[in-house]
Amino acid sequence: MVSIPVEVAARCYEVKIEDGLLAKAGDLLRAQLPEHRSVFIVTVDPVLRKWGRPLTTSLRKSGFLPHFLRLPEGERYKRLSTVEELADKLAKLGADRDALILAFGGGVAGDVGGFLASVYMRGLDFVQIPTTVLAQVDASIGGKTGVNLKAGKNLVGAFHQPRAVLIDPAVLSTLSAREYRAGLYESLKAGIIGDVQLFEEFENNRAAIAAREPKTVERIIAASVRLKARVVSADEREYGLRRILNLGHTIGHALEAETGYRKLLHGEAVAWGMIAAARIAEFVGRLGSPESARMVAAVRALGPLPKLEITSRSIVRRLLSDKKTRGGKVHFILPGRIGEVEVVNNVPEPAVLEAVKEIRSLSHLK
Ligand SMILES: NC(=O)c1ccc[n+]([C@@H]2O[C@H](COP(=O)([O-])OP(=O)(O)OC[C@H]3O[C@@H](n4cnc5c(N)ncnc54)[C@H](O)[C@@H]3O)[C@@H](O)[C@H]2O)c1
Ligand SMILES: [Zn+2]
Repeated sequence: MVSIPVEVAARCYEVKIEDGLLAKAGDLLRAQLPEHRSVFIVTVDPVLRKWGRPLTTSLRKSGFLPHFLRLPEGERYKRLSTVEELADKLAKLGADRDALILAFGGGVAGDVGGFLASVYMRGLDFVQIPTTVLAQVDASIGGKTGVNLKAGKNLVGAFHQPRAVLIDPAVLSTLSAREYRAGLYESLKAGIIGDVQLFEEFENNRAAIAAREPKTVERIIAASVRLKARVVSADEREYGLRRILNLGHTIGHALEAETGYRKLLHGEAVAWGMIAAARIAEFVGRLGSPESARMVAAVRALGPLPKLEITSRSIVRRLLSDKKTRGGKVHFILPGRIGEVEVVNNVPEPAVLEAVKEIRSLSHLK
């Protein structure tokens, strides 16, 4: 079993990764949390149907009393009213300060479950058992929780670190091909940010990754988690370093917003954003063209990405009103080479415009 520590101020916790781990979840949590009995599992129906049984069997065997808090499926339910409903259910079920919240699902269940845990009775212990690639390599690590407002995504939330994160790559077998791939872009991102070996794994082991070969999948998840854990441990509250995790996200977020959050999965938007970031880095002379081409090729090799039905101008306009805009500056995370990125805030507008035009035409190529 791979075990990766996350060192945050409150308490260090471990991310454990192993194929088939779900069947051991009860024992692993019991070793960590001897005092808890009631476990409230925040989840969505598809995950509950496919993977609920091995989890609850294992929890019961270890003396936990599991209850389910189901939330409707979809990003649109990541909102305050859902948290209120779940909190009401917790109260009805008699949850007190010793209750444990277990977020079991993708990033939506993780963000809602984590936020619920951060506010119910001013804070309950919680653990994450993420079930999408995106949640396993990214969302479940680092303690950011929250919900969306009409005005924008993730505008209400809290830092609330889990007591443990348990990752079973086997649950990814039921994920749709598109969701699976979309999560992989965040893992590839981790490679570009700070792990050449991980990046090369994407270049050299394409077929095994696509086939979800367990050993390969476990390795790339572990490497991505290690990178994220390292960054979060150094900058828990996103004062500086943690921003590098936003590679591909400046343009990615603008693409998501400009297409009404309907056309692109988050990872797909980040994929286009990473291609744009590589090209911008090349335009401004920070990245050599062979390395830029390698990054673009690695992103594109993961499979087809949706077409971008946007105008380049609208993206640039949106970037200027982006929440990451501070003092009129847009921050970009730009690669200097594979495995190294930096925050840059003086990217000339024409370079951005050119890069967006490029990804747009790339997306329309057959
Ligand atoms: N907190 C953070 O640091 C952080 C970081 C990145 C993203 N996020 C958030 O994560 C969310 C996106 O997460 P996501 O991509 O996991 O989306 P998601 O939670 O909506 O899951 C995607 C889909 O996969 C289904 N699913 C989940 N596990 C499955 C499984 N094992 N088998 C079959 N189907 C399964 C879900 O029901 C859903 O339909 C966004 O809200 C984003 O803001 C948070
Ligand atoms: Zn992301």
